[in-house]
Amino acid sequence: MGETISVNGTQRSLPDDPRITLLDFLRRDLGLTGSKKGCDHGQCGACTVIVNGIRINSCLTLAAMHEGDSVTTIEGLGTPEDPSPLQRAFVDQDGFQCGYCTPGQICSATAMLEELANDWPSDASNDLEGKIEISGEEIRERMSGNLCRCGAYANIVAAIRDAAT
Ligand code: FES
Repeated sequence: MGETISVNGTQRSLPDDPRITLLDFLRRDLGLTGSKKGCDHGQCGACTVIVNGIRINSCLTLAAMHEGDSVTTIEGLGTPEDPSPLQRAFVDQDGFQCGYCTPGQICSATAMLEELANDWPSDASNDLEGKIEISGEEIRERMSGNLCRCGAYANIVAAIRDAAT
């Protein structure tokens, strides 16, 4: 096996063509079509995946640049039988209409909440027990890279708050 990348915990060979974007590699070569191509220009966030814990627009980066990296897509976060807390919260709160932006929203929110959890003070004076206090306004700010053409923002924010707290 030549240069590889970990995708949802499985080692995969990177494409021979160095011009392939990470998004096209995931969708076309690996058949992981959960990540969506909206604008293909870094504007909408539909293609968001998590690379080494950081959310990125997979349409803006080449697969070949990610040798040895660890990528998580929506398919790697949970299954219909065993959804992640955020996936469950999006269902519970109707955090979508057409659903096209949802994989990117959930990948982005997953990494965002992880970032917040890592930044959260770990001193004994907080008794949050892993919960994160975050306002709707802050969620909107931190999720501003993920657009929803249906305008389901209120329910998206409610879902993220649900999962956070
Ligand atoms: Fe990548 Fe829109 S498809 S940001």
